Amino acid sequence: MMESWIWIILVVMPGTLSAYSVTFETPNVCAVRGSSVEFRCSYNYTAAETVLKTEWSKGELKDGKWTRIELSKLILYENRTQYIGDQLHDCSLAIHDLQDNDTGYYYFRFDTERYGWRSKKSVYLYFTDLKARVNPNPVRRGDNVILECGTSCQLSTAVWFKDGHPVAKPEFQAQTEDAGKYSCAVKGQESVQSDPVALDVQSPPLNVSVELSQSGQLSEGSSVNLTCSSVANPAADNYTWYKSTGSPSSSSQLLQVGSGQVLSIPSVEASHTGLYLCQARNRLGENNSTKVLLTVDSSDIQRVILLVGIGVKVVIILLLPLVIVWIWRRCLKSAVDEEEHSHDYENISTQPAGQKNRVTQREMPA
Ligand SMILES: *[C@@H]1O[C@H](CO)[C@@H](O)[C@H](O)[C@H]1NC(C)=O
Ligand SMILES: *[C@@H]1O[C@H](CO)[C@@H](O)[C@H](O)[C@H]1NC(C)=O
Ligand SMILES: *[C@@H]1O[C@H](CO)[C@@H](O)[C@H](O)[C@H]1NC(C)=O
Ligand SMILES: *[C@@H]1O[C@H](CO)[C@@H](O)[C@H](O)[C@H]1NC(C)=O
Ligand SMILES: *[C@@H]1O[C@H](CO)[C@@H](O)[C@H](O)[C@H]1NC(C)=O
Ligand SMILES: *[C@@H]1O[C@H](CO)[C@@H](O)[C@H](O)[C@H]1NC(C)=O
Ligand SMILES: *[C@@H]1O[C@H](CO)[C@@H](O)[C@H](O)[C@H]1NC(C)=O
Ligand SMILES: *[C@@H]1O[C@H](CO)[C@@H](O)[C@H](O)[C@H]1NC(C)=O
Repeated sequence: MMESWIWIILVVMPGTLSAYSVTFETPNVCAVRGSSVEFRCSYNYTAAETVLKTEWSKGELKDGKWTRIELSKLILYENRTQYIGDQLHDCSLAIHDLQDNDTGYYYFRFDTERYGWRSKKSVYLYFTDLKARVNPNPVRRGDNVILECGTSCQLSTAVWFKDGHPVAKPEFQAQTEDAGKYSCAVKGQESVQSDPVALDVQSPPLNVSVELSQSGQLSEGSSVNLTCSSVANPAADNYTWYKSTGSPSSSSQLLQVGSGQVLSIPSVEASHTGLYLCQARNRLGENNSTKVLLTVDSSDIQRVILLVGIGVKVVIILLLPLVIVWIWRRCLKSAVDEEEHSHDYENISTQPAGQKNRVTQREMPA
């Protein structure tokens, strides 16, 4: 009915109808579930007319026949569609929070006071999954890594996230700290991200270090453990211990003194003094720690200290009674002296008194 009517008009007024058109910028739109999409659209009509109504509809198969159902009549699209066009020439539509059922054909129609015009063509909406890929994975530290966001269609630029934080470049030289979970998204739709992919950055041991269970000088006979640690992926599984026989500066001979992550010396001796280093190894390579100095108090010095200590004690023990006796004797002597002195004084003081008396006596008769 409608078609025959259009046919009549086409025959009657061909010049006028050629002005009517609906143009979709992209007839096939690929999107990611959960994201938003915009159908860019423009329409035209004869200059004298005014647009009274615009409407987007969706093609649906009902009873084996394709029909167009207005989006405003579909509950599925309620609150998710937004006409971002106008009543002049822009007929763009946005659909948010895309769901599986949104796939399909979309049409536009507009009504002027003279005609209702339906687009013959449609916009086809379909979905793609985002699949994050990291190449190569695992990667060796220092090698180039390329991040790829796999889609089944051409999407606008992909953006990347590592553990939720934006990644500056999708191509870089892998460092140990680049290990993490990567996911991609379409630019402008960052809320919808692919499943994450873990990047494994492998390296030979780095930052090899030795830790002593006791620091400072070790006394003979005590026990000490030297533990080797390193940053390695996969973890270091082979350790070799070396002891340097010369001075720290000269590249002296290294003697292998053990293996295993912990070098345990249950009873240290003076001969254990020296510079130690460990070599950590995994299947990618090996690296050495810096040299660590282990010093053991020599037994001679200890004996000297011990002897000196004993000597001091012996001297004190022997001297103490002597000192006591001396002090006691001093006290005694001074007491005796005092007594003697007082006698002397008495003698001295009585003597002249007697003499005086005698003199007086002698004088008296004279
Ligand atoms: C719209 O139609 C007018 C004539 O009615 C024409 O001059 C104009 O170029 C058309 N615009 C577009 C974008 O097709
Ligand atoms: C749309 O929004 C209105 C008002 O916010 C709400 O009442 C209605 O339930 C919503 N419809 C759907 C399908 O979510
Ligand atoms: C999506 O479509 C399927 C099959 O057509 C239907 O069973 C389902 O209810 C629809 N989902 C929504 C939310 O309308
Ligand atoms: C050894 O480790 C250091 C850092 O701890 C690193 O700079 C160096 O490249 C490593 N050497 C090898 C041969 O891996
Ligand atoms: C190695 O040590 C250096 C300096 O101590 C540090 O900056 C770096 O982060 C360490 N590397 C690793 C992988 O731990
Ligand atoms: C050294 O390690 C052994 C076992 O590995 C442990 O029995 C011992 O107590 C440790 N010694 C010290 C001083 O940490
Ligand atoms: C550790 O590495 C050395 C040198 O490659 C090798 O000779 C030794 O067999 C390795 N030890 C173990 C336990 O793998
Ligand atoms: C570590 O030390 C061993 C023994 O001296 C040496 O053979 C090896 O080349 C060293 N490795 C590195 C990476 O310096």
